[in-house]
Amino acid sequence: MEGDRKVELSEALALGPGWRHACHALLYAPDPRKLFGRIPMRFAVLMQMRFDGRLGFPGGFVDAQDSCLEDGLNRELREELGDAVSAFRVERSDYQSSRIAARPRVVAHFYAKRLTLEQLQAVEARAPLAKDHGLEVLGLVRVPLYIMRDGEGGLPAFLENSFIGAAREQLLEALRDLKLLDPGTVAKLKIPDSK
Ligand code: GTP
Ligand code: MN
Ligand code: MN
Ligand code: MN
Ligand code: MN
Ligand code: MN
Repeated sequence: MEGDRKVELSEALALGPGWRHACHALLYAPDPRKLFGRIPMRFAVLMQMRFDGRLGFPGGFVDAQDSCLEDGLNRELREELGDAVSAFRVERSDYQSSRIAARPRVVAHFYAKRLTLEQLQAVEARAPLAKDHGLEVLGLVRVPLYIMRDGEGGLPAFLENSFIGAAREQLLEALRDLKLLDPGTVAKLKIPDSK
């Protein structure tokens, strides 16, 4: 988001009580299949269509009921994705980065968790039964990680969507840092190769 700035987790945790913390997670799994028998899917990466028509990651605000960031994150994942998330837990070791926006005093923490394809498919299958399905969450989508022959279809077209907050930057950062794209795609998208 315009005006967001990255901060260290320690700095984020030292922000005063006037700040709200939110945690979101990119869930992904290796996908060996090929689209049309020729385009490697590489990984299944989950995002969601939100109630506001924007794409974002599952997760949400950490509340007083949550004893730590990850408790809040895993509770939100359960509300938004349903009971298949109880097969795993997103931990501090899955933490990627934090960003603050001066207004409205929210610090957004980002995590990425590698699942098996079976675990990820179970999340997709159970998501329509989640508490917030059809309310806060209008549906899950997988992110296309390839570029079609026309140079636009696939990831470039996906990135033209409207994203909430820093979700687009979080997606690109994770695709780069977790090496989910092939080098050709990284070069065409001109994603910087270091932080
Ligand atoms: P409520 O149930 O209404 O409290 O929603 P929630 O707890 O699920 O919160 P939500 O997921 O909407 O996100 C909380 C805050 O983080 C809001 O300020 C959003 O604008 C922001 N946000 C939502 N999704 C993302 C995301 O994927 N990345 C980032 N960086 N921020 C997000
Ligand atoms: Mn077909
Ligand atoms: Mn929520
Ligand atoms: Mn949410
Ligand atoms: Mn919430
Ligand atoms: Mn809610």
